Amino acid sequence: MDQGVQIPPKLLSSIFQAKEEIDKAATIRVISHYDADGISAAAILCAVLHRAGKSFQISMVKGLTDEIIAASDDAELLVLSDMGSANLEALEKLNCRVVVLDHHKPLRDSEKVVHVNPHLSGIDGMTSACGASVCMLLAVNTEERNWDLLPIAFGGIAGDRQTIKGLSGINLWLFEEGLKRGLIEAIPGSLIPPGKLVDALTASTEPYVIGFSGDQEAVKTFLAEAGVPAEQDSLKLNEELRMKLSSLLALKLIAQGTALETMEEVVRDRYYFKAVNLEAETMASLLNACGRSGQESMGVALALGDPSAMTAAQELRNEYNFTVISSLNELVSTGITKLNHLQYFHNDKSGLSGILCGITMQYFGDPDKATIAFSESEDKIKISSRGTFPLLESGVDLAEALRLVAAEVGGFGGGHRIAAGATIPQGEEQRFLELLDAKLAEQKQLKSAETSAT
Ligand code: C5P
Ligand code: C5P
Ligand code: ZN
Repeated sequence: MDQGVQIPPKLLSSIFQAKEEIDKAATIRVISHYDADGISAAAILCAVLHRAGKSFQISMVKGLTDEIIAASDDAELLVLSDMGSANLEALEKLNCRVVVLDHHKPLRDSEKVVHVNPHLSGIDGMTSACGASVCMLLAVNTEERNWDLLPIAFGGIAGDRQTIKGLSGINLWLFEEGLKRGLIEAIPGSLIPPGKLVDALTASTEPYVIGFSGDQEAVKTFLAEAGVPAEQDSLKLNEELRMKLSSLLALKLIAQGTALETMEEVVRDRYYFKAVNLEAETMASLLNACGRSGQESMGVALALGDPSAMTAAQELRNEYNFTVISSLNELVSTGITKLNHLQYFHNDKSGLSGILCGITMQYFGDPDKATIAFSESEDKIKISSRGTFPLLESGVDLAEALRLVAAEVGGFGGGHRIAAGATIPQGEEQRFLELLDAKLAEQKQLKSAETSAT
């Protein structure tokens, strides 16, 4: 490949094994994750299977349980996307053939299951390949015409926040190949959100600005004082006004304690697809709103170009966005509780926990502490956690910490080093917090001992 990005042979060989399983099967059952990446992965598989003339059924779930897996025993072929690597034991017990297309760090490989995972070839699935990029790799190795699914893959990449430090690994390969085919454009990002200024700033969560995210009157006053027309489209601002507005926003963010690292992340490159007139981040926000509101099929339909699903999803996204901003404003006033190595809060809508953790930590919480959100779900407690890249450098691995600590209190957990989740029994929250605080301290100590030994 021209610019040095190569798909490792082992990964490619597992992709071809997956393709062979699909070629052999007449009927396929697909299970994917319910977030933006999982929906993108499902939409790509839907197009690939439809074009290959297969009969298939797709469902999206919040988490993969042994019960869900066992219920697929009668399938001819089960394909899992954006999940499965943590469930090999249960999958290996099935009587049907199984293909896993995942990017969560696996504890081991499998002899029985066709296991496609970039980690098995030294590619980090946290930063360099998501569920949708793995499915896209399968799609383009199945048929050249499947390159038209690239905007969907980038919806997943942006949804899993794999654009924030620039593209790498499989994602970069997809970008370069897309560029050669004239499918994708990179556009510099900005602190000023896209759209009509007064609306864009009022609805903005990236950046989240205390005092005017969610408050249109405050935004109008701010713009009037800055001498910037409120009705102006941010993309059409002249250079002078753009610089002025960016600087004023940066000052506001600094004043509320937002780390420089976060501002650098906000101005990351954006990826635009002329064929569908969509930016990857927009696709991701629409899919995310669908998934988190229990409308995953609407997400698949919009990703595949259904205009009525797109219109409905835009409304859903506006409502979802409004709920996120109201929850954030509430968190600003109630505050979050800090322990030595983590900060936490409660939230009654479990679907929002992850995004609230990320924004809280980055915009007004303590960026040096991992952020944890608890929400009650049926008879269990659901947990979401988010970290930052500097925290990872100090030794923090949230996937490992949540997996081990959740197991100690009778629950289960996992995910990525920077973003992980868990489910624990009711009544175990306090013990979980204490054990997690101690585990994070241990991870940091181990790293610092390693660093001083070298
Ligand atoms: O299951 P999956 O890997 O698709 O989910 C990853 C989750 O972690 C997504 O919700 C994504 O937005 C989140 N994430 C994050 N910050 C990162 C990386 C991932 O909040 N830096
Ligand atoms: O639910 P949330 O978006 O916070 O999940 C963050 C990451 O943790 C996702 O990649 C998800 O797949 C993973 N996760 C997990 N096991 C759980 C809960 C979440 O692997 N029990
Ligand atoms: Zn994913």
